Amino acid sequence: MELQEAIMGRRSIRKYTDQDVSREQIDAILKAGYWAPRVNERWKFIVVRDEQARKILSQRDRPRGDKATQPHIANAPVDIVVCIDFRGASERDKALYAMQEASAAIQNMLLTAYELGLGTCWNGSFDDEGVKEILGLPDGVETVAIISFGYPAETSTGLRRKKLEEIVHRERYSGE
Ligand SMILES: Cc1cc2nc3c(=O)[nH]c(=O)nc-3n(C[C@H](O)[C@H](O)[C@H](O)COP(=O)(O)O)c2cc1C
Repeated sequence: MELQEAIMGRRSIRKYTDQDVSREQIDAILKAGYWAPRVNERWKFIVVRDEQARKILSQRDRPRGDKATQPHIANAPVDIVVCIDFRGASERDKALYAMQEASAAIQNMLLTAYELGLGTCWNGSFDDEGVKEILGLPDGVETVAIISFGYPAETSTGLRRKKLEEIVHRERYSGE
């Protein structure tokens, strides 16, 4: 698959078929994350297949008493939870590098999954404490995102975006 085709064609998919995702596919996706640009490699990738665990991952905002869930996280045959080990990190690492390298890894994983025929969704809304507990994360290791993977059972054209001209500035920031 051409890179541009993957970049332009990938869309968030939130409905999956029952077909399982293979170990080989997951390994290829993890490897793509691993080869993203890196600083201190504070990222951790946790592969979750367990049904009960996926249900916990699908819950959002428990501390505020909100019982809403994101069913696609529970229904996906596999989720990869991306965490950052902030222990011993410098201020700049905490503020910039660690999140940026994790994000680069996530995008590599999304594009690789797309190339393999899988649908994905990058999820930033989840119950921090619930995830920490079910995955046994030590203090200082925080969850950044949950990526759900499965064979797509829907198509998506994506939401409308701002026009490119609205976000591009040349030479200097223009506007307010
Ligand atoms: C940091 C981040 C957090 C996101 N969190 C969620 C989420 O919690 N649930 C969800 O369904 N989609 C989530 N998304 C996916 C966006 O909704 C999606 O990328 C956006 O609507 C554009 O659609 P596309 O991915 O199909 O191009 C998140 C995306 C990013 C980058």
